[in-house]
Amino acid sequence: MSGRYKATDQMSELISDDYRMLQIITRFGIKLGFGEQTIETTCRQNHVHIPTFLAVVNFTKNAGHTHINETTEQISVPQLLQYLQNSHQFFVEFRLPNIRRKLIEAVNCSSHNQVGMLTLKFYDEYAQEVSRHMEFENNHVHPFVNELLAHKLPHTSLEELGKEHSGNHASMEKSIVELKNIIIKYSPNEGNDQLLNDALMDIYMTEEDLLLHCKLEDTLFTECVRKLEREVRMQSSNETEATESDEEEQGGNVHDELSEREKEVISQVARGLSNKEIAEKMFISVNTVMTHRRNISRKLNVRSAAGLTIYAIVNGLVKLEEVEL
Ligand SMILES: [Fe+2]
Ligand SMILES: [Fe+2]
Repeated sequence: MSGRYKATDQMSELISDDYRMLQIITRFGIKLGFGEQTIETTCRQNHVHIPTFLAVVNFTKNAGHTHINETTEQISVPQLLQYLQNSHQFFVEFRLPNIRRKLIEAVNCSSHNQVGMLTLKFYDEYAQEVSRHMEFENNHVHPFVNELLAHKLPHTSLEELGKEHSGNHASMEKSIVELKNIIIKYSPNEGNDQLLNDALMDIYMTEEDLLLHCKLEDTLFTECVRKLEREVRMQSSNETEATESDEEEQGGNVHDELSEREKEVISQVARGLSNKEIAEKMFISVNTVMTHRRNISRKLNVRSAAGLTIYAIVNGLVKLEEVEL
């Protein structure tokens, strides 16, 4: 299969086309055994946001070449964040300790074998470098994004956070290339060749996996977070202006056009969904739903669910039989 995967493609084809997709589905919480199901059905059953899933698989398939601007519009940031956290957990708790175990088995790492011992030391330093980097993202970058998702204006900015660890991706890439070279060039002959090859192949896979992980963070994820940050900063400055001249502001924006997301919120209100249910369905936070509802009220001068339902019917946002009366 070439080009881009679509929601109607079979899930099993995805995996048989490219073994790397196995890692991706696991990080989205999807288990094997999906029979003849499509990507769409499997994602729905596992509560996975389809556009976000497709964005990540297509990003991987095309080795990090994606039309980012086209994609970021549809991505669910909470879901992408969860995907990155699951990837970190995989690297730190599974992949890196696993390679270490294999290296110890394959190479004589005792103090009598200095090259073996130093290889393990180099590996440990590399693993620490990766773990430290991922910890920083878990403890600083991701909480920053969660604040934005809660529509709070954070004390720092993505740019500031980026300054603190901007060189890490390149440095991790260099370290793993060096690790491979050390093993390939200087590994002592006294170990088990097959075990060493196995460890080395895991290192190759990790290199490729980590490269794509970092690239996804540098492009797709960063673009989404930048967009979110712009929205929150703009919203916060709008709210300040609104409190200064509330009445005037409301009158001035009556003719603002509704965005597609706002129309979607109205149609869900008309279907009788609560704010919490709308948030779950649209993969956004309850706060975001409330912001949309505030903006809708301001633009339409209609606040009640009944009023919004009438608006939805008249403007064809819902069918009459879908309406909760
Ligand atoms: Fe990361
Ligand atoms: Fe990273």
